[in-house]
Amino acid sequence: MNDFILNNLKKLKKKKIPNPEIDLRILLNNSRLSKNEIILSNFKINQINIKKFTLMFNRRLAYEPISKIINKKSFWKDDFFVNQFVLDPRPETEILIEESQKLFFNNSSNIKILDIGTGSGAIAISLAREFENADILAIDISEDAIKVADKNIREKKLHNRIKLEKKTINNINDNFDLIVSNPPYLTNKELGNISQEIRNFEPLISLDGGEDGLNFYREFAKKIPKIMNSNAYFIIEIGAKQYDHCREIFSVSSLKFEKKTKDLQKKDRIMVFSKL
Ligand SMILES: C[S@@+](CC[C@H](N)C(=O)[O-])C[C@H]1O[C@@H](n2cnc3c(N)ncnc32)[C@H](O)[C@@H]1O
Repeated sequence: MNDFILNNLKKLKKKKIPNPEIDLRILLNNSRLSKNEIILSNFKINQINIKKFTLMFNRRLAYEPISKIINKKSFWKDDFFVNQFVLDPRPETEILIEESQKLFFNNSSNIKILDIGTGSGAIAISLAREFENADILAIDISEDAIKVADKNIREKKLHNRIKLEKKTINNINDNFDLIVSNPPYLTNKELGNISQEIRNFEPLISLDGGEDGLNFYREFAKKIPKIMNSNAYFIIEIGAKQYDHCREIFSVSSLKFEKKTKDLQKKDRIMVFSKL
């Protein structure tokens, strides 16, 4: 392998950045001058724009996640534009899409969907892909996140099917057949202990669930039953240790608990409710 590669791998390893080979390859390919994929073992320096590469590489050395450097994160069947104003969509959230498919197996049904806290728009866009006739409203409190979701929705030519609004659930008066949300759910203590990749590069507003992380679930328990159609479902993502607390919170709401699903780490992650 050439010295340029070896030296840069050494720098990444010194900073204890996991998967240095993968990251280096991604950064090289994002600064390459031709269409040909760059492979570390036969890399030649004239394949890249060195200035562009160096800028990106230094950001990685400062622990910025690759997704924020290249402004791209894959989720479900698409790549999404991401920046510092939105949470990177995570693989565990894809279970929420799978559960929606199981509940509404007719993918051409004309359902009304609400996505609360849409961020990059990943959930709303993925549901639009799966339910071709669905009418979707995606909301977020952050103006900057709305701009990112709007970019993603327009790039995927879904702006006729997904309505985007800057609001919270308190301002929703319509009724829906499917309501989904991956709300902020970290506790204050967890926020104090997260990695610097998350703390410095993901927006606090997408993570902060209040003192015990459960603020949004309490709000949902009161409001969601009022905006559900009679055969509607409500699907939420929860934090790894929040299942028991959420069962308790929702037990006094007019929602019927249907099921929970674990993520790939075998942690309770998704809860499904219907209307009582
Ligand atoms: C955990 S992120 C989820 C982003 C995206 N749905 C995903 O799964 O990748 C939570 C989102 O909720 C938004 N948010 C925070 N407080 C909110 C509120 N009161 N009403 C609506 N959205 C809110 C944040 O701006 C953030 O985009």
